[in-house]
Amino acid sequence: MESHKSSRREFCTHALTFVTAASLLESCGGSPTSPSSTAAALPVVAAAVASNAISINIDATPALASVGSAALVQTSNGNYLVARVAQDTFTAMTAICTHEACTVNRFQSGTFQCPCHGSEYNTSGTVTKGPAPSALKRFNTQFTNSVLTISL
Ligand code: FES
Repeated sequence: MESHKSSRREFCTHALTFVTAASLLESCGGSPTSPSSTAAALPVVAAAVASNAISINIDATPALASVGSAALVQTSNGNYLVARVAQDTFTAMTAICTHEACTVNRFQSGTFQCPCHGSEYNTSGTVTKGPAPSALKRFNTQFTNSVLTISL
């Protein structure tokens, strides 16, 4: 008799666990704060930092080969956004969103987008859509003999 009771209790515990897990799974389906982003992930370019500057050989970097392209440059010093705005002109800024410091890593049609709450910046780092409160920090760039130098 006692063993019958205990196995019944065991069954209920298992059933309860199952229901809890199922409802948890269901509630993980979507987050109300995630933006309805369609922007594509930026190509990632690895680069080294030397003497407070990042040097990128553009001829060896297909991600930045055409005007209008952009990349997420990863260095030991942090992540940077680089956009090719003209044949010989690039812009560079930090990839750290000014809202809550997520890494801005999406780009479409000249607009960088933060994956966390959907803030958008143009290729100059200016906010074009909030909640980001201010522009991304810009860095000077120089383009000589196919080498882009970003001064940090
Ligand atoms: Fe919130 Fe970027 S951290 S929009």
